[in-house]
Amino acid sequence: MLQFSMNSLSLCVVLVTAVLFSLSSGNQICEVVSTADGQYARCERRGLTSPPGDLPNDISTLDLSDNSITSLGRRDMPFAKTDIDPPVDFSTQKYTNLRRLILANNRLSYISPTAFRGLQSLEVLDLSGNNLTSLPDVFTNLTSLRAVYLNNSPHMVRADFRVFTTLRNLEHLSLTGSKIKTIDIKFHIGLKETRLRLLNLTNNGISYIQAYAFKEIETLETVILDQNALSESEIALSLYGLRDSQIKSLSLRNFHDKLTYLTPSTFCNLQSTQIKNLSVAHNFVKSLRAGVFTCVSTLEHLDLSFSFYLESINDRTFHGLRSLKSLNLRAARLRDIPTALGRLRSLEYLDLSNNLIHDLSPSSALRYLRKLKTLLLNENDLKYLTKDSFHGLQSLEFLDCGYNSLASIEDGSFKDLHNLKSLILPEVYVDSLTKEMIQGLENLTVLDLQSSTIRSLSDDVFTETKNLKSINLAGNQLQLISSTFRNLAHLKALRLQNNKIEYFDDHAFTGTNNLTILNLGVNKLKTFPQAIVSSKIQGLQHLNISHNLIATIGGVALDKLHRLRTFDARDNPFECNCDLASFVFWLNSSSAEGKDELWPSPAEYACSSPAPLKGSQIFLQDYSDCQTYPYPDGSKGASTITIPVRLRKG
Ligand SMILES: *[C@@H]1O[C@H](CO)[C@@H](O)[C@H](O)[C@H]1NC(C)=O
Ligand SMILES: *[C@@H]1O[C@H](CO)[C@@H](O)[C@H](O)[C@H]1NC(C)=O
Ligand SMILES: *[C@@H]1O[C@H](CO)[C@@H](O)[C@H](O)[C@H]1NC(C)=O
Ligand SMILES: *[C@@H]1O[C@H](CO)[C@@H](O)[C@H](O)[C@H]1NC(C)=O
Ligand SMILES: *[C@@H]1O[C@H](CO)[C@@H](O)[C@H](O)[C@H]1NC(C)=O
Ligand SMILES: *[C@@H]1O[C@H](CO)[C@@H](O)[C@H](O)[C@H]1NC(C)=O
Ligand SMILES: *[C@@H]1O[C@H](CO)[C@@H](O)[C@H](O)[C@H]1NC(C)=O
Ligand SMILES: *[C@@H]1O[C@H](CO)[C@@H](O)[C@H](O)[C@H]1NC(C)=O
Repeated sequence: MLQFSMNSLSLCVVLVTAVLFSLSSGNQICEVVSTADGQYARCERRGLTSPPGDLPNDISTLDLSDNSITSLGRRDMPFAKTDIDPPVDFSTQKYTNLRRLILANNRLSYISPTAFRGLQSLEVLDLSGNNLTSLPDVFTNLTSLRAVYLNNSPHMVRADFRVFTTLRNLEHLSLTGSKIKTIDIKFHIGLKETRLRLLNLTNNGISYIQAYAFKEIETLETVILDQNALSESEIALSLYGLRDSQIKSLSLRNFHDKLTYLTPSTFCNLQSTQIKNLSVAHNFVKSLRAGVFTCVSTLEHLDLSFSFYLESINDRTFHGLRSLKSLNLRAARLRDIPTALGRLRSLEYLDLSNNLIHDLSPSSALRYLRKLKTLLLNENDLKYLTKDSFHGLQSLEFLDCGYNSLASIEDGSFKDLHNLKSLILPEVYVDSLTKEMIQGLENLTVLDLQSSTIRSLSDDVFTETKNLKSINLAGNQLQLISSTFRNLAHLKALRLQNNKIEYFDDHAFTGTNNLTILNLGVNKLKTFPQAIVSSKIQGLQHLNISHNLIATIGGVALDKLHRLRTFDARDNPFECNCDLASFVFWLNSSSAEGKDELWPSPAEYACSSPAPLKGSQIFLQDYSDCQTYPYPDGSKGASTITIPVRLRKG
């Protein structure tokens, strides 16, 4: 990876000291900050119309983005004259250490050839978001440059790449969001002496790339041609220049209706390369014929996602892809599991989500994918799973079949998936979850069945899945919780919100000592679940019992939960009497300790009864007469508690 991308630039800023320099040319002020990487002059968004004149000479980064500089240097006067006049460019400053110069988002339309004279250390130059109409001829002596960004120049129609000829250290060139329609032989002339590794030409409307354009730029590893307008034959031709390159990754996304088919020769110019990644996503490809990837048999990652018109895949489409590890076919229009997948014996990741697949027949190609670790089948039209559906997927670790219309899951449907760690099944229309249904999943750690229609859980349902760490049953029809979760020693997160739970067994959490997240919000509980108090789940960090029917809570119940970081019991019908006093006190003192910012304020809790207090804050009542029995269970803390306020007489 290149280490000087613009994003990492701001991240690596370690603020040590900040010195303010006010500039002679007006009220604008730059801030100069010492970072691990040298002096960083922050002059962004200062309304500057020319470069500042009095920055320290040893700065290593100068950020002048988002100002109003329209030109650097004067057309009529090639050299800036004196130190007295305000600088017109950078040639009079002696920024000999300057390594990064960011001039993005000004209104630059002219840069004189000598504007950057003397910036001999410059490695990164960002001229994005300006008003240049052609590639500026300013790079001649900037031989340390490694990265040039010239994105978003909406008026740039010409690109004479010969301006880069001297940049022997150039590795990264990004020219996106302009209007450079053709890439011709000048690209080859301009860049063949560089070390270009990454070329980003996204969103230019390019419709023609000359066959020799990329020739002899053998260092090229990543070429991104997304959002252009190249047809199949133009792609085939343009790849000619990459025949002998070190290309690893090619991206040809978003050509829409310009790219409607691929042929076995489309990629044949890459035959002798070691290309690993290819994306042809977001195109209007209708079918994939036999052998279209045969010439790029070294591929490991193939992205064909969002091929909205792709209805069929020939049995021999993936011929030759012996090393393919990941295949993305999300959001196409496939009705079945393509037989062609059976050839991809190295496949580890397969995304078939958001298609029209309605059946996983026992003979489907999936059974040959012995190395598959991740299978995404969410958002299809699957109606049922049988015990043959996933036969043979012995390496599978992650399976998502959510958001289908699954109405039936045969017992043993997952029985071969001994290594499965995550089973993601939201929106399943089944009434109950049984042990037989998830039989064989000894290593399951994550089970997600949210937004389904489950009414009951058998007591023994998780007895074979002892490794569960996270269970999501939110948005079901559960009414009672008995001993279902008992002894799940690894369980950390249990989400049961949005059910109809009325009954919660006092011993439901025996042995689930590692529980950290418990969400019981939006249920029908009438009392605070004793299970939370009586068990040893003292590591609980997030507890939500909001929107139930709980009239009172004893503070002692919560006193044991020292690790709580969020607690939400709002929207319960609190009865504001002395039984609530200890809770009010606990809530007030706990909330004050600067917990998680999600912890709702005590002011958000309201009394529901007695009638005169309905709607007023539980917090603003007068509990002073309750001091003799603040804890309903009469525990010891009682006498030490003083309820400090007497804000209002009940
Ligand atoms: C580049 O450097 C050479 C030698 O120092 C100098 O003669 C020439 O004028 C410089 N060109 C520009 C455009 O600064
Ligand atoms: C940018 O350049 C175009 C064409 O040269 C010109 O019409 C336009 O006014 C300029 N815009 C700004 C903001 O300078
Ligand atoms: C290429 O440019 C596009 C548009 O500016 C950007 O979104 C994308 O992240 C760039 N890709 C790389 C690898 O730099
Ligand atoms: C290829 O794709 C994989 C998976 O998306 C990614 O992790 C890897 O960094 C990519 N390699 C290159 C050279 O782009
Ligand atoms: C479960 O995982 C462990 C290690 O994570 C592994 O040793 C064991 O073989 C797996 N169980 C089965 C039945 O494959
Ligand atoms: C409980 O959680 C702790 C801390 O995350 C972990 O070290 C321990 O192994 C867990 N115990 C079990 C039985 O999962
Ligand atoms: C608790 O659950 C309710 C209902 O789902 C939700 O609205 C609320 O934001 C949750 N509270 C916190 C602190 O996450
Ligand atoms: C809540 O706590 C604050 C200090 O943390 C205290 O001043 C205030 O009186 C308390 N209110 C009640 C109702 O306990």
